[in-house]
Amino acid sequence: MAQKRIVVGVAGGIAAYKACSVVRQLTEAGHEVRVIPTESALNFVGAATFEALSGHPVHTGVFQDVPQVPHVRLGKEADLVVVAPATADVLARAVAGRADDLLTATLLTARCPVLFAPAMHTEMWLHPATVENVETLRRRGSVVLEPASGRLTGADTGPGRLPEPEEITTFAELLLARPDALPHDLSGIRVLVSAGGTREQLDPVRFIGNRSSGKQGYAVARVAAQRGAEVTLIAGNTAGLADPAGVEMVHIGSAAQLADAVSKHAPDANVLVMAAAVADFRPAHFATTKIKKGASEPTSVDLVRNDDVLAGAVRSRADGQLPNMQAIVGFAAETGDANGDVLFHARAKLARKGCDLLVVNAVGDGRAFEVDSNDGWLLAADGAESTLEHGSKTLMASRIVDAIAKFLEGRQA
Ligand code: CTP
Repeated sequence: MAQKRIVVGVAGGIAAYKACSVVRQLTEAGHEVRVIPTESALNFVGAATFEALSGHPVHTGVFQDVPQVPHVRLGKEADLVVVAPATADVLARAVAGRADDLLTATLLTARCPVLFAPAMHTEMWLHPATVENVETLRRRGSVVLEPASGRLTGADTGPGRLPEPEEITTFAELLLARPDALPHDLSGIRVLVSAGGTREQLDPVRFIGNRSSGKQGYAVARVAAQRGAEVTLIAGNTAGLADPAGVEMVHIGSAAQLADAVSKHAPDANVLVMAAAVADFRPAHFATTKIKKGASEPTSVDLVRNDDVLAGAVRSRADGQLPNMQAIVGFAAETGDANGDVLFHARAKLARKGCDLLVVNAVGDGRAFEVDSNDGWLLAADGAESTLEHGSKTLMASRIVDAIAKFLEGRQA
């Protein structure tokens, strides 16, 4: 992506130290970053740190560097403003349209996307004042991320943790690529996503696995959660991915465990997204002790078929067992062969599985697996087909979630 101008606002909370990683990641991605801390942020991280990381002088007030008119220029020139951490106080001041320091003045002059990454104690996050401020900012078009749940400063836990820097920069890049990618339009929708690969155990130390990294499914979960959905992510084996903020996690190992988790959570869900790479076969026998070299060496592994979870969900819905389920989304990784190209096989798979939407990726030649970018097609049961432009898996996820939102709208109409 071409170099963009990003303002990183830092408010005064203990999570201000994580803003350093955000600034570093954005500058390393080639962007021009200007940091605007509040006066209280400097109690946590010194201006020198932000100056060194961004390569620019750092001011907090409108009366510093006056000939440059920074309180107008920085906001007007920015392609994106990220406020991380956004405290309850800075959210309130943004809502009120205050301009009592350089950061709030910049928020008033900015006409680009604005991304707030809140961090505060759970009580402050859940207070009606903050709840209303967040709603107001979202209504005005800003993106306010859901905070992560977990340990806060001190002994308390709950929602209010700053999302990890990688997550913040992922959303920053998404908004630079697609400023309208994160509308808050999925409140009240429950989304169940499966992601990652399954592991089929042979013995206590060995398994049959696959190359799925989980990145695409995690990105769908992450984007859906930030668009307001209540998301449960059934996570198989991944490339060490961090839990997305604001998402309920269920960790599984084998295809059978995945099937159990889907059965348990699908009745509550409105949308099922099966991005997991589910093993079609498992070893017929599980050796309870380690298989050894020596006298009775195995020469082959007998396999048995695993249930098809996606097709099973489609059947359950048809049988009336999933009355809440409105959209079932499958994934297909295809190479094409002598019988037909990628789309030929994908269309056949959509018909075979009976899902509402199918996300299709061409694989092979190092594509799709374990990489950060992707492209493909989106096929719908009604015959509609569209291409998914090449881009990050998060950008792809935003297109996939768009298609789900449109599908849900179509069902309600
Ligand atoms: N899937 C599933 N349960 C399985 C296998 C696959 O739910 N046991 C789901 C995947 O999560 C994905 C879709 O089905 O959403 C397509 O998976 P894929 O393995 O590509 O399809 P298969 O039916 O196995 O087709 P084939 O092996 O012939 O390509």
